[in-house]
Order: sequence, then C-alpha cells, then structure tokens
Amino acid sequence: MDIPADAPEFSAPGPLLVACPCLAEDRTSPAMYDLHDYARMIADEARMGPYVQALQAVVTPGSVVADVGSGTGIFALVACRLGARRVYAIETGDVIQVGRELARENGVADRIVFFHGDSREVELPERADVIVSDLRGVLPLYREHLAIVADFRTRFLKPGGVLIPARDRLMVAVVERPDLYEWAVGPAHGPIGVTLESMRARLRNATFADRECDRLRPECVVTTAAAWATLDYATVQPLPIAGCAELRVQRQAIGHGLALWFEADVTGECGFSSASAQLNCYGRLFLPWPRPLALSKGDQVDVDLWAQADGEPWGWNSTVTAVDGARAAFKQSSFLSMPSKPVASVRDARSATLSQETGS
Ligand SMILES: C[S@@+](CC[C@H](N)C(=O)[O-])C[C@H]1O[C@@H](n2cnc3c(N)ncnc32)[C@H](O)[C@@H]1O
Repeated sequence: MDIPADAPEFSAPGPLLVACPCLAEDRTSPAMYDLHDYARMIADEARMGPYVQALQAVVTPGSVVADVGSGTGIFALVACRLGARRVYAIETGDVIQVGRELARENGVADRIVFFHGDSREVELPERADVIVSDLRGVLPLYREHLAIVADFRTRFLKPGGVLIPARDRLMVAVVERPDLYEWAVGPAHGPIGVTLESMRARLRNATFADRECDRLRPECVVTTAAAWATLDYATVQPLPIAGCAELRVQRQAIGHGLALWFEADVTGECGFSSASAQLNCYGRLFLPWPRPLALSKGDQVDVDLWAQADGEPWGWNSTVTAVDGARAAFKQSSFLSMPSKPVASVRDARSATLSQETGS
C-alpha cells in the first residue's frame, strides 16, 4: 500500500490489536486506573525512555523534584536514583500506597515525601527545581491536566526550573478506515427492521478513541500530517485550544475523518509521538466526517479544530478543495452528539404530559 512519506506511524504492522487502555481510561470511572494500567505505563518503553532521559538531563545531586500525579511514584523513584535530595510525590489515588512500598523497597523512603491528595490543595515547604508529570489521556486535553500544571508551575517551580514534559504538539491528518468509521457511527439497523439514523446522526459528531477497536495504522493516513496547536507547559493555561492546518492528499482514497495524536517534547532533547509504532499507553482520537468522501492526490483539506481544555466538547470544520475546484465543507461538533440536557428532557416530558392531558 502507498504510504505518504511524511505520514505518521500509528502502530506496528501485525496482528489486529486492541490498544491498551492505560492512559485512555473510562472518563466516568471513579478510580482512574487499576494497578495493571500503572504497570503497563511503566513497561511502555517509548514513553518511559524519553522521561528517564529527561530526568537524567536535569536531576543532579541536591535537586528538589516534584512528581505531580505520581501514581506508583515511578518518576519519583527514578529522580532518587539520579541523586535528588528531596522528592515530593503527590497523588490523589490509593495507588500512593504502592508508591510508599516501592520507596521502601528501593531504599529511598527517607527522600520521598508523599502527599495523598489533589495537587491543587497541597502546600510544599519549598519550590522545586524540576516538576515532572504525565496527566494526559488519549490527548493532553484531558480532564484537569492543564489546570493542574498551570497551578503547580505557578506555585512551586523555582525561577529557571524545568518542567517535564516541556510541550506537546497536537497533530492531525485525514484517514481512510471504513471499518473504524462504521464502528464509530454505529449500525444503520437494529433487529427486525428497526432503523437507527437519528442515533447515527449524533454519532457522526462524536469523537472516538481508537482503543475501542483495531488501531489507526500508518497505511490509513492519506494526507500530510500537521500540527494545529502547541501546548507549551511553561505558559499553558486551562483555556480552550483552537488552531488550523492545511493538509495535502497524498493518494486516491476515501476519507473517513480526522485522526488526532500528539508529539511530546519531554525536554528540548528528547520526545515521543503518541502515533509511534511502539507506543501502547495512549490512543488516537478519531473525528468522523458526516460521510465518507472520495479524495484525489493533490486535493487540499483545510481543517479548523477547537476543544475545551478538558477535551470536551470538540469542534472540527473540514473544507476539501479538489484539484478540479470542487468543494465540500463540513462543520461538526461533539456538542451535537450529546443527548439533550436533563432540564430540557424534564420540560419536554412535562409538555408532552400536558398535551396528552389536554389532548392538544
Ligand atoms: C497517567 S497517571 C501517571 C502516573 C505516573 N506518573 C506514571 O507516569 O506512571 C496520572 C496520575 O495522576 C493522578 N492525578 C490526577 N489528577 C491529580 C491531581 N490533581 N493531584 C494529584 N494526582 C492527580 C491520577 O490519580 C493518576 O494516578
């Protein structure tokens, strides 16, 4: 298959795999991750490697390090191995107990101070030379990630201190994946002739993480890839993010929608891509088009994207300008996928009851 030269790698070719949910857990789950998820995050060399390299580059004997959202305390333990004088590990979940046990096992319990609670309610006795975290989900726009980083950086990073990661670039490309599209928008029919178009109309405006089916792979990318926004953690605030990108179709294909992933600069020197072949922790986000669209090599696809800082709702406008001048334009938002708010439902139910009672 013809793969564009600058197409991102999504995952290794091979048997069909369902992506590991690690950093892409259920948003509604009260306990964010289970211990298997934490173990897999540590085992994910493509993620851990650049984090360890970044810590090696900046942690010196005498450093003060803060590990925000420490989970098992893996970054705190690495910082101790590198000679940090004091490490603060802050974690809301009960997994902090595993961190304490690992600190004892590794003989560094006297250097790590654990805080069991929300980082925004913690008071450290000193500022840190290094703040390290990985609070992303499928993408960095996830829950209160940006708010947590902005708060902790402002209150506890020394002047000239280092943030790990330094920045994330949010990437986009058009993909061809008929099976993923059908999976994302759901079946057209239910049993014995029931039709489901109203549900599909909503689902065509819903974002979809590829962990729920076979992953997006390099061969399904049909355009150039581009960054549409950059999150610089030295300055980022928990505000809506918006940006645009101009993509060029690389081969004849049917476009089914947009794939989003991120490229991390863990420090200036090292990084990773959530589209990379080895990476298991993160997923990719699929934003379907309202309908599959035939594309030809050389067509231009202009995309506008925006999202709230916590990743919902999303908006995506796509304009396809064919080489022959024909145009197709889609304006979509995950807001349109959401069923009516309960207050509206109550009002609808009341008026329905009233009209039944009055016979109007
Ligand atoms: C993706 S895990 C990363 C765990 C570990 N740092 C690692 O890289 O393996 C993110 C962790 O941040 C914790 N967390 C999320 N928000 C937090 C907050 N406001 N304060 C402290 N911990 C938080 C979660 O409970 C979770 O354990």
